[in-house]
Amino acid sequence: MLTLNVLTALLAPGVLSSALPARDLNARADSKPAALQAILNNIGADGSAVSGASAGVVVASPSKSDPDYFYTWTRDAALTYKVLIDELIAGDTSLEPTIQDYVSAQAKLQAVSNPSGDLSDGSGLAEPKYHVDLTAFTEAWGRPQRDGPALRATALITYGNYLISKERTSVVKSNIWPIVQNDLNYVAQYWNQTGFDLWEEVEGSSFFTIAAQHRALVEGSAFAKALGESCEGCDSQAPQVLCFQQSFWDGKAIVSNFANNGRTGLDANSVLTSIGNFDPKAPCDDVTFQPCSARALSNHKLYVDSFRKIYPVNSGKEAGTAVAVGRYSEDTYMGGNPWYLTTLAAAEQLYDALYQWKQLGSLEITEISLPFFKDLVSSAAAGKYPSSSETYTSITAAVKKYADGFVAVVKEHTPSDGSLAEQYTRDNGSPASAKDLTWSYAALLSAARREAGTVPPTWGASTANKVPSKCEGSSAKGSYTTPSVGKW
Ligand SMILES: *[C@@H]1O[C@H](CO)[C@@H](O)[C@H](O)[C@H]1NC(C)=O
Repeated sequence: MLTLNVLTALLAPGVLSSALPARDLNARADSKPAALQAILNNIGADGSAVSGASAGVVVASPSKSDPDYFYTWTRDAALTYKVLIDELIAGDTSLEPTIQDYVSAQAKLQAVSNPSGDLSDGSGLAEPKYHVDLTAFTEAWGRPQRDGPALRATALITYGNYLISKERTSVVKSNIWPIVQNDLNYVAQYWNQTGFDLWEEVEGSSFFTIAAQHRALVEGSAFAKALGESCEGCDSQAPQVLCFQQSFWDGKAIVSNFANNGRTGLDANSVLTSIGNFDPKAPCDDVTFQPCSARALSNHKLYVDSFRKIYPVNSGKEAGTAVAVGRYSEDTYMGGNPWYLTTLAAAEQLYDALYQWKQLGSLEITEISLPFFKDLVSSAAAGKYPSSSETYTSITAAVKKYADGFVAVVKEHTPSDGSLAEQYTRDNGSPASAKDLTWSYAALLSAARREAGTVPPTWGASTANKVPSKCEGSSAKGSYTTPSVGKW
């Protein structure tokens, strides 16, 4: 009940009314959730906060100094457009023009040579960030970042499948498939090489990256077939990527990076993976770390607990109570604070899990997930509980309350104009670092949709969870072609 209020308030049109661009006053702005409008404000060419950005370009934040985020990141853009594409599928057809602008922008971007390389061998596809006019950023940076091509493939495949369902297959083949094919070939060729993690700090192997790559290859294979094409690299590499993904599990939690970095490994990397690879048709599968899986829930507990003692804003909040959470406990960037998008991700994983239990008609507690449940219901015990049981009712109510608690933490530290920066301080929860972070708004919109039971399409997780008996490093040969910018 609390959450409905909290999320409704945060999403209500008008909360950000001062930031609404004039052009929307006589359009559909009044029906747009504030978080959606805030995202659109940061997208070129019409976004009110990002003048100078090309059409379909997601600017990470309007902030141009301390920190300067006035760039477009392949990852942030793909995650943001995935949310917009899910909104389109849920019925907001007004978003289709900007989604098509995104596709066109990516067709151009793939051909831009950059410090990671170029398109001839695919290496340029993993360049993490570009100028907002689609030119290369040539200064030193943590590159390559190999999650970008995978996340972009996922966003574009989701839109492509929507168009196929509308019998617009030929436009998918001409405008979307060439871009997706490059990204899939990239993933199949390079997944077994190190790169920088999603926080752009750690060079090694990142759980988030590997999981995004597995998903892209799985849905890429089906997408190719639906178009009468093929993705041999998808089929040959996906099982090995999944095999490698298993090694990030340490028995209690996910070790987010394989790198010599002196960290515990507990990192929002893992929770973002769980919500990113949430499949509404999947069971509580440990192998793909579904939100309701025992592994993902055990990891959720240990990740959240790692912030209880270190942030003064969390003082006095015992295990089982929602708290402010950030990227990882050792973080020092811009003060090493809690982040809005990670706190929302902690809620979203639980909303996803609640959806999955409801679909399955039961909830299972195993020895692995028991500590997570015991924090919420002290009498919880291992077992399988059908949705008709009292235990199911009391436990799901407790999980819902816990999830709502994370949203309430975000609400408590959101200024009255509804704006979401990147971080809020560990000492008193006031906004910090980049203002109006696009990803923060995307995280809010996505958490709100999951809380309301609106879910994205399946990506086929339940047909792609067979782990080979022996893991092997491997690579498929990739070929790359310059995509053309299509007409719609
Ligand atoms: C490549 O895959 C093998 C087998 O899973 C794994 O042992 C190795 O760590 C991987 N290396 C990288 C950089 O992905």
